[in-house]
Amino acid sequence: MLAQPILMSSQSKRPSGRGARSADRPVSLSADPLRFASAYHAPVMAAEVVHRLVTEKGGLYVDGTLGGGGHSEALLQALSTEGRVIGIDQDSEAIAAAEARLADAVESGCFRTLQGNFADIERLLTNAGLGAADGILLDLGISSHQIDEASRGFAFSVDGPLDMRMNADAGETAADLIARLDVQSLTNILRAYGEEPRAWPIANAIKDARALTTTGELADVIRSAVPTKEEVKSLARVFQALRIAVNDEMDVLERALEAALAVLRPGGRLAVISYHSLEDRRAKHFLRFGNMEGKAEKDFYGNLITPWNLITRKPITATPEETQANPRSRSARLRISEKLAPPLSDHPR
Ligand SMILES: C[S@@+](CC[C@H](N)C(=O)[O-])C[C@H]1O[C@@H](n2cnc3c(N)ncnc32)[C@H](O)[C@@H]1O
Repeated sequence: MLAQPILMSSQSKRPSGRGARSADRPVSLSADPLRFASAYHAPVMAAEVVHRLVTEKGGLYVDGTLGGGGHSEALLQALSTEGRVIGIDQDSEAIAAAEARLADAVESGCFRTLQGNFADIERLLTNAGLGAADGILLDLGISSHQIDEASRGFAFSVDGPLDMRMNADAGETAADLIARLDVQSLTNILRAYGEEPRAWPIANAIKDARALTTTGELADVIRSAVPTKEEVKSLARVFQALRIAVNDEMDVLERALEAALAVLRPGGRLAVISYHSLEDRRAKHFLRFGNMEGKAEKDFYGNLITPWNLITRKPITATPEETQANPRSRSARLRISEKLAPPLSDHPR
């Protein structure tokens, strides 16, 4: 059953910093797009997410990509005192930042964090003793904090260790990955995840260089392999490709989409914000057809067989005001679907 749509008002305030919540202070679509921003991260399309994701004010919502807790705070503000938000992130820095920001909500039991990979959402919720979710948000990619923090090794603009792991406590770093791969495998990654047209010469230059250990060294090698006017684009594409490979982002996203469908109650909604075409294609196909390939399966009468009712026929994009205030929001695409009840024939007798 769908609850009342969230009230629109212009009364929203900047967050208190302690996660204060109020169901009578609704999230406004017309207010300052940066009102949930913090030094950690500025959440994208926060009002649009909340407006379309929340259908039960007393429900259970999962923010699968907690980051600095901006979307979680927006969700908490839209829920009643019975509502709960669970924030998942694999980055311990995100967990600590969001818990500090939403300390009041943690204390009152309305907000709880779970550190882990969102591909494991089913297991994480079960282990925490939680049941079916009313809504799940996946705001993909990395946070501004992860980019800005040189020690995390995500950015070509600042020098730091060549790391790029979202979970800094486990797994192979970008430096390890580059050292392990041969030229052909590295080329394939730069092509597949960065759509880099000069993948082969860049991969060769990387493998010819002595062992790379810093982002600055990698950036210099990339610059040496491309024309000057292409440098910035190639740097962005190669860093993106390596980040996706290090964190196995495409495989993890596919597993997470399937798992999200499993943990939603019928009538619950899944919202995905993607930032590049590889993510968006998967979200688009899955949220319409229930598969990653975009295959339209039809029944005997020609009706589409899908577990979803697509809420956003076209992706929602940030307003001009938001893209001006937060350039990162420019590439964001928000898609939302609602889980359908299983057909009657699937119900146990
Ligand atoms: C774009 S930021 C989200 C920002 C957040 N919506 C906010 O309001 O601050 C993405 C976050 O998701 C986390 N993340 C990305 N992939 C993940 C995964 N597979 N499992 C768990 N967390 C992940 C990153 O560590 C990062 O903190």
